[in-house]
Amino acid sequence: MIINFIIKKLIRLKNSSKVLKIFYYYHNFIHDKKLGSLGLDFTKKKTRFDLVQNIIEIKNYKKYLEIGCEHDELFKHINCEKKVGVDPVSGGTVRKTSDQFFSNNTDFFDCIFIDGLHEYKQVKRDILNSLKFLNKGGIILVHDCLPNDYFEQAVPRCQWTWKGDVWKAIVDSRKSKEIDVYTCYADHGIGVIIKRPNRNILEIPNKDAGSLKFEDYFHNHKNLMNIIEYENLIEII
Ligand SMILES: C[S@@+](CC[C@H](N)C(=O)[O-])C[C@H]1O[C@@H](n2cnc3c(N)ncnc32)[C@H](O)[C@@H]1O
Repeated sequence: MIINFIIKKLIRLKNSSKVLKIFYYYHNFIHDKKLGSLGLDFTKKKTRFDLVQNIIEIKNYKKYLEIGCEHDELFKHINCEKKVGVDPVSGGTVRKTSDQFFSNNTDFFDCIFIDGLHEYKQVKRDILNSLKFLNKGGIILVHDCLPNDYFEQAVPRCQWTWKGDVWKAIVDSRKSKEIDVYTCYADHGIGVIIKRPNRNILEIPNKDAGSLKFEDYFHNHKNLMNIIEYENLIEII
């Protein structure tokens, strides 16, 4: 209980405006000013609400898990027979971090939406743990995979609108032979992971995804992320 209380306070502190400002100055000092915005525009694209619900209905999924629920903006709109939402601070149905949840979970799910801590190593762990508890024919969706500029993806977090370096976990997953991985051009970039042989393995010799820089993503995001439109996604799932 005391550990959960401390985790909750630490997450709130890291996201407070004063701490964000300190890290903003830090990132502003160190980053390459030549790299601007990619100009990815999500306003006319599908929302995560439509995308997740449509997939659940098309595939007749029964069990939905959301990692990171916050104010339940997505969670409360999802219509599915069984729903579990995990968040150490607010929303959902389980007050734990994703690591705590997976360490003694026994349930299996059809659709898992990962939207917790937006840092590469955590997202990678969330993906690996989700794969262990994914039903056959299920799908993993990962939110916030397409940052537009350096500050949106900077770690530590330095502004309110934050996608972090989730994109690196998608790049990392794309190197695996056992999973098929895409990024849907919708709602800030939704990573899509399907347990089947990879149809488009990413070859980046001698590169650990964690060591990639925003510059690599800025110049090669289409190839690194395997970006597809919503209509294509529906065809291939
Ligand atoms: C971007 S919000 C989630 C938004 C929500 N999925 C939606 O679509 O409206 C991220 C949430 O992740 C939670 N979070 C942070 N660290 C986490 C962790 N280790 N495990 C699970 N959730 C975490 C935060 O408390 C926050 O509520």
